[in-house]
Amino acid sequence: MKAQFDLLELAQDVAGAAGSLLRARLGEVAGGILLAGGASTKSSPTDLVTDVDRSSEALIVSSLLRARPDDGIQGEEGSSREGSTGVKWVIDPLDGTINYLYGLPAFAVSIGAWLGGRSVVGVVYNPVTSEMFTASEGEGAWLNGHELRLEPSGRPLAEALVGTGFSYNAQRREAQARVLAVVLPAVRDIRRFGSAALDLCSVACGRLDAYYEAGLQPWDRAAGDLIAQEAGATVTALEALSPGRPPTVMAAAPGLEGPFRDLLERAACNW
Ligand code: IPD
Ligand code: CA
Ligand code: CA
Repeated sequence: MKAQFDLLELAQDVAGAAGSLLRARLGEVAGGILLAGGASTKSSPTDLVTDVDRSSEALIVSSLLRARPDDGIQGEEGSSREGSTGVKWVIDPLDGTINYLYGLPAFAVSIGAWLGGRSVVGVVYNPVTSEMFTASEGEGAWLNGHELRLEPSGRPLAEALVGTGFSYNAQRREAQARVLAVVLPAVRDIRRFGSAALDLCSVACGRLDAYYEAGLQPWDRAAGDLIAQEAGATVTALEALSPGRPPTVMAAAPGLEGPFRDLLERAACNW
């Protein structure tokens, strides 16, 4: 348990430092970088990466390895390293790059630690709101040190506020729009904040009743899944809804997991 606590402390320190970097460079890039051509494309013309994403990842990786030189690493911007300790850090150095580029305040640093294939520590830090979401397996989830504990609200699915996100791939978006056409009339409303890590944390702290997204990558959810789960939400990877591709991840507040899953399975006929 002490070892897990040490991992959590380290992840918090490092996420704080990376968040400071993102905040410091925000004025430099917001809006202007698009015009200046300071962002390059990744998987599609709408999928952008900037020097800030790469600098944040470099800072996170060097800080983690300085403290724990034998750990493994998987970072969105290409850092990859086998370790010998069983601990693997899964990193999204800037989740919400498009928001960041437009100066929208929904972006975060996400750092998760896996041990023996299980997620044991998660930290998501939004440097604009100074909100640090943390979780440690079996120990609970917190927002800036206040424990997050979801209780069943008794709210029906028709009154649930649901978050989602969309792929950077236009063809996949077409399919996602068909799913959305089934989900939207069945719930209170939909939010698309633009950061999967913060979406999962929003379920953890009750700002969303549920969230789903197809095609999330490990770094999008390594920390957020654990934070939502430790807060009492049900987080499930629905492999069958996107065969051969990264799964559709759903997170739901207590009591909504059954009806929400049924809805997504019904909507997936449109996939
Ligand atoms: C993206 C964001 C977005 C989600 C996409 C992710 P990025 O991550 O989390 O909300 O809908 O699936 O790829 O590219 O900003 O790190
Ligand atoms: Ca991401
Ligand atoms: Ca990212």
